[in-house]
Amino acid sequence: MALRGKHILIGITGGIAAYKIPLLVRLLIKEGAEVRVMMTEAAAQFVSPFTLATLTGAPVGMDFRRPDGTWNNHVAWAHWADLILMAPLTANTLAKIVNGQADNFPLAVLMSAECPVWLSPSMDLEMYRYPAVRDNMAKAASYGMRVIPAEEGELASGLKGQGRMPEPEHLFELIRQHFQNRPPLPDLTGKKVLITAGPTYEHLDPVRFIGNHSSGKTGKALAEAFRDAGAEVSLIIGPNHVVDGSEDYEVVPVTSANDMFEEVKKRLDNSHIAVFAAAVADYQPAEVKDNKIKKADERLTIELVRNPDILAYAGRHKKPGQVIVGFALETDRELENAKEKLARKNADMIVLNSLRDPGAGFATDTNKITVIHRDGNTRSYPLKDKKALAYDILHELEKHL
Ligand code: C5P
Repeated sequence: MALRGKHILIGITGGIAAYKIPLLVRLLIKEGAEVRVMMTEAAAQFVSPFTLATLTGAPVGMDFRRPDGTWNNHVAWAHWADLILMAPLTANTLAKIVNGQADNFPLAVLMSAECPVWLSPSMDLEMYRYPAVRDNMAKAASYGMRVIPAEEGELASGLKGQGRMPEPEHLFELIRQHFQNRPPLPDLTGKKVLITAGPTYEHLDPVRFIGNHSSGKTGKALAEAFRDAGAEVSLIIGPNHVVDGSEDYEVVPVTSANDMFEEVKKRLDNSHIAVFAAAVADYQPAEVKDNKIKKADERLTIELVRNPDILAYAGRHKKPGQVIVGFALETDRELENAKEKLARKNADMIVLNSLRDPGAGFATDTNKITVIHRDGNTRSYPLKDKKALAYDILHELEKHL
């Protein structure tokens, strides 16, 4: 409940991404925030004010007049808020904001604000690139507003490019981070980040495999944290239920350790940062049977052979300036083993998770980590959700950049 007691005011304008705002509202409320929504007439064409009034439990601000004829005090709305987020923000309303035009209710509220104002301009790519729109974004930033860059991807027009409103989960994370007073993320714009995640499945026959309980949640959380920092992310992930194709970074699904190794090799040289969070199987069957193994004797022996150690490979081929992060899951002599692993695999940093703590480990949403640096510095974190830990890992990694 990181947002308990926080008042968040969302201003919606007439862009197609408006239909995603109810999801953001729900995420914020679930985290304890009080949310109110204001919107322009145009926004109401894209998402129903009734939906938002229902979700927030409060009237939606659209007009200076309340339905009973009394004044809807825009100043009181502004002063209620701890944060105002305009999302999605059209080119039109952006222009009005920077020109001080207040010809509707949300604009009047925004101009009465004492709290931080964030803008999430979202529009089609040509519009997003239009010089006056760029100037207006720069102007808004110079007035102290936070301009959240639009993301790359598919646009409502069918074109691809920059202009998408960040997904509700991303906006939510930025808000949560803001109220947690975390230091800002390092700016990783232009940096390529490779992440391995999830389990690997090693086939025994056409229907069976050797695998493990890794969910891929930590890897996904890391991918999102790096993306939030502006990096170009490739997530190479074993069989999982956590990615669904809606990710706004490269997702490379793989099955076995060998597949994962091949995909890592393709990208490693170009990566500035490589994080090995996957629970890679150490062994694979020496032979994969063409047909299903039939039950026969009371005992069955399967011969296994070693898998490539992907992290160790990356350590051996490390380029100057490249940062390599490994994970360790130990059941005994945790710290000593993790330190030894860091040296042996030539990593810059090792993230040690403990299986001993309740709430920590594989398929959970939370984890408890200790970060060990090459110079011997270590830091332990309390039990946290995996997204928050991903941010902590990113901050720890900053020391190596
Ligand atoms: O040696 P161990 O498996 O305990 O090391 C764990 C670390 O090594 C993790 O970062 C994991 O992703 C990586 N690893 C790997 N390839 C393997 C085994 C582990 O990349 N075959």
